[in-house]
Amino acid sequence: MKKQEDREIRERIIEKGNLPRHIAIIMDGNGRWARRRGKERIAGHQAGIEAVRDTVRAAGELGIEVLTLYAFSSENWNRPKNEVFALMRLLRETLEKETEELKKNNVRLRTIGRLDRLPAFTLHALKKAIERTSDGTGLTLVLALNYGGRGELVDAVRQIVSDVEKRRYGVEAVDEGLISRCLYTSGLPDPDLLIRTSGEMRLSNFLLWQMAYTEIWVTDVLWPDFRREHLYQAIESYQSRERRFGRVME
Ligand code: FPP
Repeated sequence: MKKQEDREIRERIIEKGNLPRHIAIIMDGNGRWARRRGKERIAGHQAGIEAVRDTVRAAGELGIEVLTLYAFSSENWNRPKNEVFALMRLLRETLEKETEELKKNNVRLRTIGRLDRLPAFTLHALKKAIERTSDGTGLTLVLALNYGGRGELVDAVRQIVSDVEKRRYGVEAVDEGLISRCLYTSGLPDPDLLIRTSGEMRLSNFLLWQMAYTEIWVTDVLWPDFRREHLYQAIESYQSRERRFGRVME
């Protein structure tokens, strides 16, 4: 996309207002992208990094507050061992290579998911990147790693039950606000817009509680081919929608 055209679209989007504060993305189709080229699945994941890079930059330039990427689900452990290992290595490599760029763009990195099951080398790179970007005041980039929405709710219920047992608060204190604060996403606004690539129409156990009123935008584009112009399309579609949250609009 030409620089001039890019700037014009961005200005149009910003001028329209009503930007999504939080965009969540299910990055799907890496395997299919690779298969169509006669390559190994991991080549699709590798190519997906360029899509991540362009999307993060564009989201930052638009002034989006939070971008959450579903990088590894709790179900993804069921993939072939070598694919899982390659993904973990790719994650480490990418964090090591890109942290400076994130810092330069004022991005703050954060994660959601049960990190304790990640290999030590990935966890180490992750902690370092989080620490080094902790003073970022622009886009919050959230990586969902070993994340599952049901598992997240289980963790929240356990914490609440334990707090009640310890008499930190009573059962009557349990409400939607408390539950939200006990999720991994505590402190973040709920996603306004969910983008899913490669044409699948599923939530796949992603942010189940948080996406109660999220607008969904699905594209047939496979994740490695996803670029800022697709992000712009999704946002412009979002801006044209009427969100009623169950109410009636006069
Ligand atoms: C889904 O495609 C993709 C994944 C499970 C992994 C996504 C990970 C990346 C793009 C790299 C992560 C890196 C960072 C820094 C966020 P698929 O393999 O399920 O594709 P298929 O449905 O065509 O098989």
